[in-house]
Amino acid sequence: MSANVAMSRGPDVIHRDSSRMFDVEKIRRSFPILSEEIHGRPLVYLDNAATTQKPDAVIEAMNHYYRHDNANIHRGVHLLSQRATDGYEAVRVAAQSFIHARSSSEIVFVRGATEAINLVTHTYGRANVGPGDEVLITAMEHHSNIVPWQILCDEKRATLRVVPINDRGEVLIETFERLLGPRTRIVSVAHVSNALGTVNPVKQIVRMAHSRNIPVLVDGAQAAPHMPINVQDLDCDFYAFSGHKIYGPTGIGVLYGKAELLENMPPYQGGGDMISSVTFEKTIYNKLPYKFEAGTPNIAGVIGLGAAISYVNSLGIDAIANHEDELLSYATNQLSQVRGITLVGTAREKVGALSFVMEEIHPHDIGTILDQEGIAVRTGHHCAQPVMDRFGIPATVRASFGLYNTKAEIDRLVEGIEKVREILG
Ligand SMILES: Cc1ncc(COP(=O)(O)O)c(C=O)c1O
Repeated sequence: MSANVAMSRGPDVIHRDSSRMFDVEKIRRSFPILSEEIHGRPLVYLDNAATTQKPDAVIEAMNHYYRHDNANIHRGVHLLSQRATDGYEAVRVAAQSFIHARSSSEIVFVRGATEAINLVTHTYGRANVGPGDEVLITAMEHHSNIVPWQILCDEKRATLRVVPINDRGEVLIETFERLLGPRTRIVSVAHVSNALGTVNPVKQIVRMAHSRNIPVLVDGAQAAPHMPINVQDLDCDFYAFSGHKIYGPTGIGVLYGKAELLENMPPYQGGGDMISSVTFEKTIYNKLPYKFEAGTPNIAGVIGLGAAISYVNSLGIDAIANHEDELLSYATNQLSQVRGITLVGTAREKVGALSFVMEEIHPHDIGTILDQEGIAVRTGHHCAQPVMDRFGIPATVRASFGLYNTKAEIDRLVEGIEKVREILG
């Protein structure tokens, strides 16, 4: 889970362990896009924090659904509708077990982490945050865990409070505890920062907040691809993640909520499927989780998400974490040795992403030259502008890793950066 921890275990042990369990070359052959050439060079895809590539299993599952099972769910007595419904509901159970929720009724399908957070601000937030109340987030949040809370706070004349981070990119946990006040109505925090790769101590954060009866939403968009998630162990009240960041399709994600909270929340959107009866005088809402799933959902997306979860489970999330840990350690070592590079985000606990800047060269120019070499990285503020402000920079280059990346690809990245220096340095 942490680059430093991985290094201290010794590269030999990790190599033996992960090569035994994890045949990365075989895995790569399951991802058709990885054999693409970009500008005449083999693709090196290091933009996994933005979205991951899809294995055959996911592409095939969605194709199969449209070719053989397509029908609307929950409402039909005909066989296709039953097959579609069974497939859709089986994924709810798979998602439940993926994050170790107590019940599948605590799994709400949404468009992605962004919609999951907006669902909570619109429902729990509107019902529980009032004038003079406070919402507590951290300085490393993605815009999708800032702006929905700002909209809520503006509407309710509440205050958004922000826990600062240190120079390594870690939350100041004592300050966090101090900011938990009598008016704090909810805490919302990233499990892993997309811009810095920091893993936050969410279990400790939840414990501190719960000791004051404050619920916690965990934005797991960047954690779910990289580590086992156990919402019961974390004891968080809400957990959000996106399918497309765990090798599934876009447009589908999960909001987990504790049943007792979801039960008491007003619905998010009104429409078909979220009701049990409607008259012009009174509507009775459906039971969980359907109360929060109005209208025809993204059925094919759910099927694809199910295939992605099965795929990840077939490799084993621990084996994936181990492999990626090794990659992150290797990349951290290699890039630290490149003259003129400064890593941004050096937390003791990190996964997934490595951000850096290079003396006198704008990240956008680095990204453009790397692209010519067939290397896809992300440059910019990564939808986390306050993080850039904290470090006094406009942007970084971010290399983010997935289960199919290799050390040879990191070597290509380093060579590409040397080329950037030759051209622009
Ligand atoms: C930490 C974090 N939270 C939330 C999101 C939003 O995810 P989505 O765009 O899939 O809704 C992202 C996307 O990059 C993210 O990195």
